Amino acid sequence: MLKGFPKYAFGTMAFLAVAIALQSMRYIAVPWGVWLGVGDDIRGVIEHVPLQMLTHAIVAPFALLTGPFQFLPGLRARRPALHRWTGRVYVSACLIAGLAALATAPFASGGPIAGTGFGVLAALWVSATFAAWRAAVARKIDLHRVLMRFSYAMTFGAVTLRLQIPIGFMLGYTSYAAMSVWLAYTSWIPNVIVVALYSLARGAPRQTVPAAAG
Ligand code: HEM
Repeated sequence: MLKGFPKYAFGTMAFLAVAIALQSMRYIAVPWGVWLGVGDDIRGVIEHVPLQMLTHAIVAPFALLTGPFQFLPGLRARRPALHRWTGRVYVSACLIAGLAALATAPFASGGPIAGTGFGVLAALWVSATFAAWRAAVARKIDLHRVLMRFSYAMTFGAVTLRLQIPIGFMLGYTSYAAMSVWLAYTSWIPNVIVVALYSLARGAPRQTVPAAAG
């Protein structure tokens, strides 16, 4: 059970994650010709590389949606099977959406500098999530926790990116594509630094538990 500041920090994170995930699920309607709230910049990317971009935009929200609840210690302890199944959904969503993002990055609306930032993010996202999953299977639980924190720091970049868009307009950028040259880096590097500092403060991973069925 979370208390005090961690409870409010978790509540804010989960609220923002669920809100952005649900709002992003409007891309499910795009293959049926419903372009609800899709900006011209992103529409251009979809029309250029529809399979990659739509796979990413439709699958990634499931990672954002399921991720926060995996960090709740009470839920992990009381419902370990639910933790494992939700974890499988999270990992599958990250790997599919991450590989699709890697294939979309060269066509990002912000050009090659934005594409490089998104490409590096996609490669790190897939690698950290895959390694975290392997650590769980090998029962290296502390390592699994640390790597999943990094994975979700990157997943949560979807939220920090969207929170930074109004700041970009206030700074004088006139479109998402123009400011994405910065957003492709500022949306996730601070999240990763925060998790690195938090993990350093908590100490290095060490615990390994014996293999269990399921
Ligand atoms: C963490 C790794 C991620 C990478 C590397 C990544 C990469 C990208 C790229 C390159 C685009 C095209 C945007 C452009 O042209 O500038 C995009 C768009 C999009 N991404 Fe991601 N993304 C990631 C995570 C997520 C997550 C977790 C979500 C969950 C909501 C998400 C949802 C979307 C959506 C809905 C779009 C369409 C644009 C929009 O409506 O804002 N992405 N992403």
